[in-house]
Amino acid sequence: MKVLITGGKGLLGTNLVPLFDKSFDLTICDLDTWDITDKQSGESFINKIRPDVVINLAAITDVDGCEETKKELAERINGYGAGVVAGLCREHSIRFVHFSTDYVFDGAKTLPYKENDPPNPLSVYGTTKLAGEREVLEKNPSSLIIRAQGLYGKGGENFITKVVKMAQQGGGIRVVSDQRSSPTYTKDLAEPLIALIEKGKSGIYHLANSGSCTWFDFAQEIFTILKMDVSITPISSAELERKAHRPAYSVFDMWKFQKDTGLKMRPWQEALREYLMVIGV
Ligand SMILES: NC(=O)c1ccc[n+]([C@@H]2O[C@H](COP(=O)([O-])OP(=O)(O)OC[C@H]3O[C@@H](n4cnc5c(N)ncnc54)[C@H](OP(=O)(O)O)[C@@H]3O)[C@@H](O)[C@H]2O)c1
Repeated sequence: MKVLITGGKGLLGTNLVPLFDKSFDLTICDLDTWDITDKQSGESFINKIRPDVVINLAAITDVDGCEETKKELAERINGYGAGVVAGLCREHSIRFVHFSTDYVFDGAKTLPYKENDPPNPLSVYGTTKLAGEREVLEKNPSSLIIRAQGLYGKGGENFITKVVKMAQQGGGIRVVSDQRSSPTYTKDLAEPLIALIEKGKSGIYHLANSGSCTWFDFAQEIFTILKMDVSITPISSAELERKAHRPAYSVFDMWKFQKDTGLKMRPWQEALREYLMVIGV
């Protein structure tokens, strides 16, 4: 199966590509080769590659930046751009896979979010990603949309590398304890995604490592696994004074994924341990 990945040089693309190599004949593009808002260059890319599936990972993911200088850019890429790729795929009879986020929810629930729970984003980023979901389903109703959350993996900075670096600088660290979600190892999305594509699934699916924790719990687990003695102070999101509001609770209900694939996501603690042991910080 020929698969074309847009925005493939970011965090998720970099981590998924080596794991997709055995299952798919891959072509990777990014902003330097195909700006997804440019329909004409997409048209020529698709005519050249003739993929069976396009996976769109291109996005503006700077959540706080979207509240300030990147609002219009995010609207254009996360919303309009996603629709451009979805529409092109429909015109060329290519299966389309798109990624969205838990930030489409407001976090007011206390039970895991189902795919059809009403979205109500609290941030510009979440609003543009929700606009993207709607564009995608309007332009190409048989698209597959994966909502992911709290990703970490090989390459670049993430929550884990940041807290370890802060701890190594000495003194204690302060971590938010009023946001509950399911941090997810990028590697763990590969098998589920391959299964959903091979089974020809469409519509929205929630995917994350199982179980849930606050970022405070997550930091504690990191230092326990690394056997580092670090003093961690729990703080509220308000104390952190970040530009964008995040949902206080965004745990996913993954029953639909389990029922449709027969697969189960492993617990976040197991995934974190493997990441720390294999990739390190
Ligand atoms: N990271 C998370 O925790 C998380 C959680 C939930 C959902 N998601 C979703 O998962 C998907 C992948 O996320 P990620 O973490 O891999 O993001 P990322 O690291 O920011 O990668 C996104 C890639 O898209 C590229 N890009 C930006 N504008 C583009 C354009 N107009 N045309 C083509 N490419 C463009 C970026 O290039 P530049 O770097 O040059 O801008 C970057 O290489 C996104 O849809 C994101 O919303 C991510």
